[in-house]
Amino acid sequence: MIQVTFKKSGKTVPWDPEARNLLDFAERHGIIIESSCTVGECGTCSTFTLEGQLAYFAKPESPRGPGLHMTCCTFPLTDLTLDA
Ligand code: FES
Repeated sequence: MIQVTFKKSGKTVPWDPEARNLLDFAERHGIIIESSCTVGECGTCSTFTLEGQLAYFAKPESPRGPGLHMTCCTFPLTDLTLDA
């Protein structure tokens, strides 16, 4: 089972495939990541991925910088550590 670690929050929780995305998953566990559009357009929810790999449900309009990913439209492929 894939484990997702939120480093700043000090929480590691098993990924729930029924979560809509990493942003939704974080909120379910009481971890607040600032967001706005929730559809991969504004970049507000961008969070650094410190370890592991994730994927986008759909290719973003404006990709972020290296290691920076939009949590509202991504899901983990491997164990993941986010800077959140
Ligand atoms: S909240 Fe706008 S890109 Fe995620």
